[in-house]
Amino acid sequence: MSDFVEKLRAIVGDKGLITDEQGKHPYVTDWRESFVGNALAVVRPANTREVADVVRLCAAEKVSVVPQGGNTGLVGGGIPQEKGREIVLSLNRMTRITDIDPIGYTMTVEAGVILKTIQETAAAHDRLFPLSLAAEGSCSIGGNLSTNAGGVQVLHYGNARQLVLGLEVVTPQGEIWNGLRALKKDNTGYDLRDLYLGAEGTLGIITRAVLKLWPKPKDVATAWVAVPSPEAAVALLSGAHAASEDNVTSCELMGRQGIDLVLQHIPGATDPLSGRHDWYVLFEWSSTRARREGANAGGLREKMEAYLGEAMEQGLVLDATIAQNETQARALWALRENHTEASKKEGPSVKHDISVAVSKIPAFVTEGLAAMRKALPECRPVTFGHVGDGNLHFNCQAPAGWDKARFLPHAHAVNAAVYDLVVSYGGSISAEHGIGLLKVDELAHYRSKVEIDTMRTIKRALDPQNLMNPGKIVRV
Ligand code: FAD
Ligand code: MLT
Ligand code: ZN
Repeated sequence: MSDFVEKLRAIVGDKGLITDEQGKHPYVTDWRESFVGNALAVVRPANTREVADVVRLCAAEKVSVVPQGGNTGLVGGGIPQEKGREIVLSLNRMTRITDIDPIGYTMTVEAGVILKTIQETAAAHDRLFPLSLAAEGSCSIGGNLSTNAGGVQVLHYGNARQLVLGLEVVTPQGEIWNGLRALKKDNTGYDLRDLYLGAEGTLGIITRAVLKLWPKPKDVATAWVAVPSPEAAVALLSGAHAASEDNVTSCELMGRQGIDLVLQHIPGATDPLSGRHDWYVLFEWSSTRARREGANAGGLREKMEAYLGEAMEQGLVLDATIAQNETQARALWALRENHTEASKKEGPSVKHDISVAVSKIPAFVTEGLAAMRKALPECRPVTFGHVGDGNLHFNCQAPAGWDKARFLPHAHAVNAAVYDLVVSYGGSISAEHGIGLLKVDELAHYRSKVEIDTMRTIKRALDPQNLMNPGKIVRV
């Protein structure tokens, strides 16, 4: 093996190689600390050519390659297996923005660029890159594209797949496919780009991408709204599309339990409303039309206020506050975005990243909470997520005081209760986080034989040695 490591060093140099256990630890442990793997080395190439050389060497030596970006994934997709003969190939040195074209509304980036940097670069050019999620300060665009990430603006702009025009990919054989085309129309055979997007690094390594940009919104209204039920939340959203003139960009639902965890664990978090309610919605409307200030002020905030007032009369809203400035808006967003962190601090949980049709959310929540409690009566449900996309994080927090050893034996029953119901609703057991290692068995169980067989056929055809992120998504 030392010979193999020296060959890696010859490609990426000392700066690109980590072989000591302490240095490797953060790369072989996932964000939730649910998976801890083993790697022969962590390799950090500086450019696409080095990625290709490393992959070719691994193919020749039959060593598996686990691509990794910011390592914020929630399903263990970027973590090598415990007993694998694997390297982690981190893209975290490939952080160049190689082109920004405000006229054509595109940006070309390397895979390791942090999402927040992309957002800020777009904003500096009066443009918007709309992918937005709580991990945006540390996740990378390569990881976002490989998981087809969702986040909080999908209902208006789409998920990662809809935000990209072209890709450059290193194949499992170490060849470079240059599909960096900034084309809106390109019907030239099978869509390879769409195959690599959301493939979680099992079919190749994304090294660069051409991203789509949008005009930067000039008027934004953000509200924190207490609602009587998920049903009211869905009705509120439904009416808001017309009331906002199709400017609803986020609609997030949260149960009280999650908010309590944030208030308890996140320093500085405060409840913007005085009463206690069971359900809340974080609403954001945004428009590229500049708001008018002064005496004749008019814009989204006023429209939102009028709409929420009417909704209150109809009993859809119990209480609400609209942010008066960006600082207030950020504080409201922090209450939502800190749910994941607060839940981790509270202790073990099982997470369900599910989706059903938006109109079915209320019935699903009622039945789902009952099913989860039946599977584990002491479970503390924590429900939050992107109700505007029909995507909820329908989680079960371990009963207070339970450690992993006591809680995890119940995980299977809780998962089965939730996923059986999801499937009966025609929904998805993984709406935005992917399959990774966490849901390989569930995917095989809940999707049809023809679907799984087709995935295996694609995997075998593109990666006949099964060296590219093996064991993730489907076993071959
Ligand atoms: P990693 O975790 O490093 O990798 C994820 C997967 O992509 C792995 O399978 C890995 O092998 C593969 N991969 C990474 N880079 C490449 C590459 N260049 N080429 C090929 N394969 C690659 N996700 C959402 O969808 N919506 C959310 O709202 C959301 N919120 C989150 C909030 C928090 C607090 C946290 C911790 C996570 C959240 N996530 C969310 C999950 C996670 O942030 C996303 O999945 C993100 O897209 C992962 O990016 P990453 O760079 O960290 O990828
Ligand atoms: C979110 O919406 O905050 C994320 O997807 C993270 C999570 O599910 O915990
Ligand atoms: Zn989410």
